[in-house]
Amino acid sequence: MYTMGSEEIDAVRRVIESGMLFRYRGDETSETDYFEREWAEKIGVAHALAVTSGTAALTCALVGLNLGPGDEVIVPAYTWIATALAPLAVGAIPVLAEVDTSLTLDPADVERKITPRTKAIIPVHMCGLPCNMTALMDVAARRGLRVVEDSCQANGGSFQGRRLGSIGHVGCNSFNYFKIITCGEGGAVVTNDMEIHQRAMMYHDAGIAFRPHADQIQIPFFAGSNYRMNDILSAILRVQTRRLDGILQALRNEKQILREALAGGSPFTLSPVNCPEGDCGTTFGMLFDSADEARAMVENLAKRGVTANRPIDTGRHVYTNWEPIIERRGAHHPARDPYQQSPGVALNYARDMCPKSLDYLARTVFIATSINRPQDELARIVDEVKTADLRRHT
Ligand SMILES: Cc1ncc(COP(=O)(O)O)c(C=O)c1O
Repeated sequence: MYTMGSEEIDAVRRVIESGMLFRYRGDETSETDYFEREWAEKIGVAHALAVTSGTAALTCALVGLNLGPGDEVIVPAYTWIATALAPLAVGAIPVLAEVDTSLTLDPADVERKITPRTKAIIPVHMCGLPCNMTALMDVAARRGLRVVEDSCQANGGSFQGRRLGSIGHVGCNSFNYFKIITCGEGGAVVTNDMEIHQRAMMYHDAGIAFRPHADQIQIPFFAGSNYRMNDILSAILRVQTRRLDGILQALRNEKQILREALAGGSPFTLSPVNCPEGDCGTTFGMLFDSADEARAMVENLAKRGVTANRPIDTGRHVYTNWEPIIERRGAHHPARDPYQQSPGVALNYARDMCPKSLDYLARTVFIATSINRPQDELARIVDEVKTADLRRHT
């Protein structure tokens, strides 16, 4: 969480005092209705659906695309496990592809991983860093694939002037506690496609047939679940949405200072960024020649009170630690397990299946940016990076 205060408290108080906490209020416009309109406008899409989490958003998006058993979905080797679990949740198989040095999905490897069963790709704008959407949309268009943007770590970021989530067929946001804006837990599905929106809407609310807007749904009702947002959290998100661009500006400013001060550093280069203007700025990256030098930098900085990390060490975002995937346990019950129910899919998961990703993750050092770090503290970080003695540690 970057910032939250009295405006969010007032918004929550207003909802509680109204006694109306449910997202559907008959003819009255709810906080969630308002949030959906405001979020759609912010992202620049026709439709936004508020849901309970980013994971729910990904699952609803895949339902929106009508994906299911027998389908393969390409996901990056570096992301939160939810990106890979969402295909399994709809009965499809996640296929892992490499990230490149930007630590986002490598378009060339996506092309290599396509099979006749591939239906979609999920580019993840990891750590606020935009994927190369031009190249990925090009692959998708040539090969007839749908694109689900996972913007969970990149709320409000953009690529070449378009907000992340509005470029693919459908986009997903997370508003959990660790995200750029937050309400504790929450998510959104964004799209310009009415059918994807209506299918996602149906899946997210098992009771949709009984809602006042049921007559606007043009597709036959199918069984859904419950990932409905509530009005307390939507009220918080409306305030957070108004804060979003200010937060992004502050993060980008700090990252820009770091990039300018540390460009041409040695023995590292600045991690490549696909669209520096649209990058959310949450994460400053340095790419080293060797994993040992990267590790030595982290250790050096730690001794001087500067927090840095190698993404390879954060564990849970690296595919080698996704046990349910690597061990092919795709569901709680064999009859519901896509790995057991898709015999035509001959997947060869292994911990060394994406070696380039592991190499880049081990040679990268991240420093998280902040929206309110004093200038002298930032200058000290720059100084510590510049003067770190890596030789003694390699
Ligand atoms: C890249 C990515 N995708 C999906 C998710 C899932 O979001 P949530 O935790 O809201 O379910 C996260 C959350 O950490 C994420 O970082």
